[in-house]
Amino acid sequence: MNPVKVGLLGLGTVGGGTVNVLKRNAEEIARRAGRGIEIVHAAARDLNKPRICDTDGIQLCTDPSEVVNNPDVEIIVELIGGDGLAKDMVMQAIEQGKHVVTANKALIAKYGNEIFARAQQKGVMVAFEAAVAGGIPIIKAIREGLAGNQIQWLAGIINGTGNFILTEMKDKGRDFDDVLKEAQQLGYAEADPTFDVEGIDAAHKLTILASIAFGIPLQFEKTFTEGISTITRDDVAYAEELGYRIKHLGVARRSEKGIELRVHPTLIPERRLIANVDGVMNAVLVMGDAVGPTLYYGAGAGAEPTASAVVGDLVDVVRALTADPENRVPHLAFQADALANDPILSIDDVETAYYLRMSVQDKPGVMAKVASILAESDISIEAIIQKEPVAEGSFANIIMLTHKVQEKQMNAAIASIEALDTIDGKVKRIRMETLDAN
Ligand code: HSE
Repeated sequence: MNPVKVGLLGLGTVGGGTVNVLKRNAEEIARRAGRGIEIVHAAARDLNKPRICDTDGIQLCTDPSEVVNNPDVEIIVELIGGDGLAKDMVMQAIEQGKHVVTANKALIAKYGNEIFARAQQKGVMVAFEAAVAGGIPIIKAIREGLAGNQIQWLAGIINGTGNFILTEMKDKGRDFDDVLKEAQQLGYAEADPTFDVEGIDAAHKLTILASIAFGIPLQFEKTFTEGISTITRDDVAYAEELGYRIKHLGVARRSEKGIELRVHPTLIPERRLIANVDGVMNAVLVMGDAVGPTLYYGAGAGAEPTASAVVGDLVDVVRALTADPENRVPHLAFQADALANDPILSIDDVETAYYLRMSVQDKPGVMAKVASILAESDISIEAIIQKEPVAEGSFANIIMLTHKVQEKQMNAAIASIEALDTIDGKVKRIRMETLDAN
């Protein structure tokens, strides 16, 4: 059988990695897919840019629509990124009855509902494994491997750049900006690195994971997002002292009231495996009612790890080319007409435990006053430490861990504490998760 001809849009880090993996492993890939898979046409913005791959045998151009319109091309791999040109190209490919493989989390999180609906009408596949957690086959694991379970919750370190920054700050005391620069040089960071540090990239990925875990439409705009830029080295050190690590987590949980979708810095017990996922590595912990907790770990970014997911999708698409479109694995794991409309909870209604840090005047009764505000708000304290003031008459740091409470109740208590004239500045609050099996 002739090899399947593929068109590639984007020849950057992941595009270059995809060309290299497809060439190096061509023989085994063909044995798996049943046919060879060949990139025949590729578009890149700047053809003179140095590449990490050898493009011999690939027709090159600067206009991606030339690739999409090439009648020989059956599958389009979209690695342009963003949701402008990339969306136009993906929609154009679908209109022409071509299958699509994409690593584009922003595109899927924001426009996936529209893209999948059109793809279904046209009987084509849109595969997106590389959009979440780079090389970890987490989409496939949830969509297929865990299909017998009711997924109760999942929690993931799903932004490599953010995890790299937090790890370097903790282990080496390095500065935020310095580590971010290194992540950019290594090709991990997004074109706009605020997407990494402010949690937008993780929110894109969490939106996708929640959708395939719970069988709900993609709802990026309802995902609560808080970044890591306010985390200080002191917070990291105090958390360690209390037996916790600070990780930037995406959490999706199903409760009777609705679905929680939230990305924020989180204290997690240091004894959890996921608390020890360092550097650019990603990990996703998924709790299924039948299987219990399962953990998926691997490189969340980088040329070949992401190419591994792109090529895995290409093999899947090639294997299913002749399958009746109605009998393929549904895009969002659940049949398109069986998606549920469970409400997404506002962050105000979410219940978590908290880490609180405040700077207080070092005089009698201050701690008691704070404790009484929490008690009046029905917030129970689990642990407390007080740090000596650095100089006589200066402020002392109090760090508290609380039991679980609704966010709006905690917000009201924090406002009352901040109104005390013995408190200096704002109360720092970080949500906590135990991530245990219950
Ligand atoms: N900027 C992303 C990260 C790349 O750091 O995880 C992979 O999506």
